[in-house]
Amino acid sequence: MIVQDARNAALSQLVLSIFPGIDLFGTGFEQVGFSVVRGPDPLTGGDIRRFHTVPGRFDGVIGGPPCPDFSRARRSEPSGYGLEMLAEFERVVLEASPTWWLMENVSGVPDVVIPGYSHQRLDINASECGLSQNRLRHFQFGHKHGHVISPVRLPRIADAQPCCVASEGGQMDRRGWLDFCRLQGLSDGIELPSFTQSGRYRAVGNGVPIPMAIIMAQAVALSRPVSSVRLCFCGCGRELTGRASLANAACRKRMQRRRDSAGVTDQAFVTIEQSQL
Ligand SMILES: C[S@@+](CC[C@H](N)C(=O)[O-])C[C@H]1O[C@@H](n2cnc3c(N)ncnc32)[C@H](O)[C@@H]1O
Ligand SMILES: [Zn+2]
Repeated sequence: MIVQDARNAALSQLVLSIFPGIDLFGTGFEQVGFSVVRGPDPLTGGDIRRFHTVPGRFDGVIGGPPCPDFSRARRSEPSGYGLEMLAEFERVVLEASPTWWLMENVSGVPDVVIPGYSHQRLDINASECGLSQNRLRHFQFGHKHGHVISPVRLPRIADAQPCCVASEGGQMDRRGWLDFCRLQGLSDGIELPSFTQSGRYRAVGNGVPIPMAIIMAQAVALSRPVSSVRLCFCGCGRELTGRASLANAACRKRMQRRRDSAGVTDQAFVTIEQSQL
């Protein structure tokens, strides 16, 4: 039902995918039914800074700007390139003037609030998308008419494997190529004959796992006005049933952690905006 409804809503929509790499993110959108056009990437000689588009042609803009500056695994000071690319994401959204946009990144990424759009931020793990991989990612969504998304997560897979990272190709203890691809949702692997070994691990490891992209694409296709849905107060995007204000025990724990770190004892003082920090 969800799959068919999402497909029906996606079929009429044209999406611009920026920072595509090999575009696992856009591939998930295509599998849901969206038409996807790819922007430039240094992998194919392009640069977003030389890219311009026209307003009103795209229904949505998606992208995962480079994340090393925001990654916890970073060993050096941020270069500033990450922020520059977030600003490019915002510039392209403002130029394209789509109805909605969706950005993927690591948990350390700052909020990207774009004038004229609502802002929703939530996290999702690959282990909630049917994959045995512990890969936590943050998605930020904006909509011209204030719609919100509510991704439908699958039961979490316990004992998931460590995250597939871009640098794994250079490690002695790297996982085999097919295993690595499968953890990213490429069940038959992918041939990238013109890439070096570390280059192909980087391209696949950088991607949004395809099942995660599909869950997010379905959520976007089924986005609804904020007034027509009650979402969990913790900001996870889960839809609430009954009179509860938090969806599950993990949401209650998350809110408690935020109250503790904010030094407040009254739940009413912790807003969703604060809780995203
Ligand atoms: C996190 S990866 C995106 C992966 C992609 N979303 C996917 O699912 O396969 C970030 C991409 O940004 C690209 N990139 C870095 N600097 C760029 C620039 N100046 N212009 C355009 N793309 C850039 C990188 O080459 C890389 O492919
Ligand atoms: Zn929640």
